[in-house]
Amino acid sequence: MDVKAKMLRDDALKGKTIVVTGGGSGLGKAMTSYFLELGANVVITSRNLEKLQAVKEELEAATGGKVLPVACDVRDYEQVENMVKASYEHFGNVDVLLNNAAGNFISPTERLSANAFDTIIDIVLKGTKNCTLAFGKHWIDQKEREKVVLNIVTTYAWTGSAYVVPSATAKAGVLAMTRSLAVEWAKYGMRFNAIAPGPFPTKGAWDRLLPGDLKEKFDLAKKVPLQRVGDHQELANLAAYLVSDFSAYVNGEVITIDGGEWLKGAGQFNLLDQVPEEMWDMLEAMIRAKKGK
Ligand code: HXC
Ligand code: NAP
Repeated sequence: MDVKAKMLRDDALKGKTIVVTGGGSGLGKAMTSYFLELGANVVITSRNLEKLQAVKEELEAATGGKVLPVACDVRDYEQVENMVKASYEHFGNVDVLLNNAAGNFISPTERLSANAFDTIIDIVLKGTKNCTLAFGKHWIDQKEREKVVLNIVTTYAWTGSAYVVPSATAKAGVLAMTRSLAVEWAKYGMRFNAIAPGPFPTKGAWDRLLPGDLKEKFDLAKKVPLQRVGDHQELANLAAYLVSDFSAYVNGEVITIDGGEWLKGAGQFNLLDQVPEEMWDMLEAMIRAKKGK
């Protein structure tokens, strides 16, 4: 099996303009690269314009697509409004908003300052709200239809997770926003979906979630029933489908792409995976011996 195989046909996103927040690194960059290959124009945003400029040059050379880099801290509504304006001025249209920017780090919650907690909520939840509100208002005011918002959450948006409590709290809010607006703003021709990735190694996430030798100590591939982490192209394939017209009837969904990781943690008897094959004869005999007793 080729996990790097590309799913959609070459012109699947031709004529679309897509804004990817946090598009200059990690998964945002991988999704941007595939959108360009499929014919879209892409606006990439983050706090670091120099980094975005370098990524623009790299991806334009690799794909022949068109990239607009825009510095924008998603925590600041005025900067977000300016980013919306810059995107329209440059490309004349925006069809898709992909809320991908995030902040996160592991910490026991009692060690967090109020500002540390706020910082994550502000980037993830308020940042997604700021971008969604700015584009949503614009689309409604201008009566522009057939718009798509895709939010990147995580599986702990619904399970919760210790040691990343601000992130879990914020992602749960993003998921609630996704499902709420999928209904409320459908009448304006917008649809909202979310992707919940499992482990997809990126420098940004791994440096903050598995610093030092935690990478070796907690091999995340071992937590996944499929025994591997995700490939960036697998996520890009799903994202491209969800922002394309092929998914026009998919609205209000969260699609998990995690090799079964979260369910493995949830199922009460999933730990029986550890029982060796040869022990099952003995266990079965013990259970059968209880019949009628
Ligand atoms: C405790 C910390 C801390 C840490 C920062 N703070 N790091 N507290 N432990 N490790 C505190 C600071 O002391 C400060 O509080 C407050 O948080 C804000 O810190 P700043 O450094 O001023 O914030 P800022 O420059 O805005 O940077 C934001 C950041 C940083 C989130 C802290 O890591 C960042 O820029 N991250 C962006 C990229 C990122 O996080 N990528 C990973 C996404 S992965 P005080 O009180 O001192 O002022 C992801 C994966 C999910 O989401 C699921 C994976 C399976
Ligand atoms: P990443 O490379 O660190 O991506 C985070 C991006 O957000 C960076 O490009 C960063 O750019 C940008 N960003 C951070 N704060 C910002 C702000 N205030 N304003 C604007 N942009 C900001 O990490 P990643 O792994 O690719 O994560 C991408 C998304 O996937 C996130 O939503 C994350 O929660 C989600 N996710 C990842 C995994 C995984 O295994 N990797 C699993 C589940 C979910 P600047 O620093 O330049 O601003």
